[in-house]
Amino acid sequence: MTGASRKGAALPRHPRGWKGSVGQWLADAVFYLERRGVPEATANAEFIMAAVLETRRNEVKLGSAHPLREKQGFHFWELVVARGERVPLAYVLGTQNFMGLEIAVTPDVLVPRPETEELVAQAQLRLRASGVPSPAVLEIGTGSGCIAIALAKTFPAAVVYATESSPAALALAQKNAEAHGVSRRIRFIDEDVFKPAVSSAGWADLLISNPPYIPSAEVASLEPEVLREPALALDGGPDGLCAVRAIAAQAPARLKRGGCLLLEIGCTQGAAVRDILSRSGGQEVEIRKDLQGLDRIAAARFG
Ligand SMILES: C[S@@+](CC[C@H](N)C(=O)[O-])C[C@H]1O[C@@H](n2cnc3c(N)ncnc32)[C@H](O)[C@@H]1O
Repeated sequence: MTGASRKGAALPRHPRGWKGSVGQWLADAVFYLERRGVPEATANAEFIMAAVLETRRNEVKLGSAHPLREKQGFHFWELVVARGERVPLAYVLGTQNFMGLEIAVTPDVLVPRPETEELVAQAQLRLRASGVPSPAVLEIGTGSGCIAIALAKTFPAAVVYATESSPAALALAQKNAEAHGVSRRIRFIDEDVFKPAVSSAGWADLLISNPPYIPSAEVASLEPEVLREPALALDGGPDGLCAVRAIAAQAPARLKRGGCLLLEIGCTQGAAVRDILSRSGGQEVEIRKDLQGLDRIAAARFG
């Protein structure tokens, strides 16, 4: 029975022992998730089923007539219920694909976003264009480690430093770096962006960050899933730009002459960030838009 054909029916609970095919479990999950306002309920149910069956999403559709084993059904339904409570899909699955890499995620870290893939793509372009054989990269606010790891994988001779003030995030970033074989080339540092250490002065070819940039007053109105992510990763202070100001102020001292600063920014922050970067001594300041035409990346050269 599909969700559409049973309007008003009680939500399926599925105690241990409920038997059904993959397709029946999926139909129930879609009905359940839709009733809880989960966007893209069908895709979510299929991704969860694929994780439970340890297969790909398209294989799930092909095998919809197959029965689900009791243990699998129980596990599937546990995950569906969590998603119904608006836990982000990446937390439910424990992983998020970023630049083709599977990055482990927990509620201690921001879920890596497609917008941030554009930031990394810009970094790749600029580092390649610089021609520096072993570029030195400093990432501020590494979270899951996704940016630092993606850059370390692309540039095998790069030396990467990645800072973070959340110990739990640092521990997960370290694990992710180990899983991707780059832990020896990334140094994770417990550092508060507002109290920078001087050890990395004048060292970096690239300073890159996706800082928290949401104005404090807007945080409460974010989607339920986003509110499950760490406040530290979202809240950028009264105007959203506290961390941006701190990073811009450090850029001249932390970058080599001619080094590049790349920041992910909020979609309405382009003009304000341009001003902050120029006042901090940034040259060739550029505000780049994302695929939706919104301000998304700020770039500047220093020294
Ligand atoms: C928007 S998240 C970005 C995480 C990851 N780099 C990514 O792009 O998915 C910002 C990160 O900055 C960290 N952060 C927030 N305040 C900080 C501070 N004062 N010092 C250092 N890191 C901070 C957060 O814990 C979070 O991991």
